[in-house]
Amino acid sequence: MSTTTLGVIGTGMVGLGAARRAVDAGLNVVLSNSRGPGTLSDLVAQLGARARAATPAEAASAGALVIAAVPLAAHERLPRAELAGKTVIDPMNYAPHSGFALPELDSDELTSSELVQRHLTDSQVVKALHNIGPKQLLELFRPAGAPGRTALPLSGDDPHAKEEVAELLDVLGFDTVDLGALADSWRSEPNSPLYALPYVGQPPAGLTVTEFVSWVQQATAVPVTAARVKELAAAAVRGPAGFRM
Ligand SMILES: NC(=O)c1ccc[n+]([C@@H]2O[C@H](COP(=O)([O-])OP(=O)(O)OC[C@H]3O[C@@H](n4cnc5c(N)ncnc54)[C@H](OP(=O)(O)O)[C@@H]3O)[C@@H](O)[C@H]2O)c1
Repeated sequence: MSTTTLGVIGTGMVGLGAARRAVDAGLNVVLSNSRGPGTLSDLVAQLGARARAATPAEAASAGALVIAAVPLAAHERLPRAELAGKTVIDPMNYAPHSGFALPELDSDELTSSELVQRHLTDSQVVKALHNIGPKQLLELFRPAGAPGRTALPLSGDDPHAKEEVAELLDVLGFDTVDLGALADSWRSEPNSPLYALPYVGQPPAGLTVTEFVSWVQQATAVPVTAARVKELAAAAVRGPAGFRM
């Protein structure tokens, strides 16, 4: 692929998982977080020579594609100017809690990615990597054409940007299913049949929400084909937005 450098803004569970997979697949990564490059030396050392640390603005400038793996509550702090003209992968999910609610999402007026696109006016936002946990991402990758290869959904308003993200995900080891525009991305958001569970199977009964989150984060991965992703997306019914703890 033409993309050789992935900019990573946010190096928590998701950003680091994506960076690990990208490095293992032969890409370079530029990592950033809210606290500054000096706090990322251990992660860079773990990832090796293909990784370096930078500020979010530098990671945005360096990446041909950029993943914005920050809490949705921080999306307005993403570096809009440096992300202008870029394809931005949005894995962010809405998780309202006391002191944080987004009325346009609560009313289903917008999807969370439409809100992100509204901030990143001059970028092409593609919703992807939001419905699978990092552990499963690091277990389910397969070469192109492998039988039963796992597929991930993506949504976006710009066809070329979606092609770029599909190409990246192919390099990372995944098929993709285009679910349509950002307005359609609710079909793979929290509370939809495509969100997280297909990639981990059925959790034990009776878990609290916190126990459920921990269980998903350590669960053994389950492959999900493109045909199954299409079936699950078609079965989605729009309900209240957001993952509620
Ligand atoms: N965890 C999952 O299984 C999962 C799966 C799919 C999607 N998601 C979504 O992916 C996103 C990231 O989740 P996560 O679990 O990786 O979160 P996390 O572990 O809490 O990490 C968040 C990262 O974002 C960085 N950050 C926060 N504000 C920032 C800013 N203004 N500029 C630059 N970096 C900033 C943090 O930097 P510091 O460390 O310096 O504070 C941290 O590196 C969330 O929106 C979440 O909803 C999560």
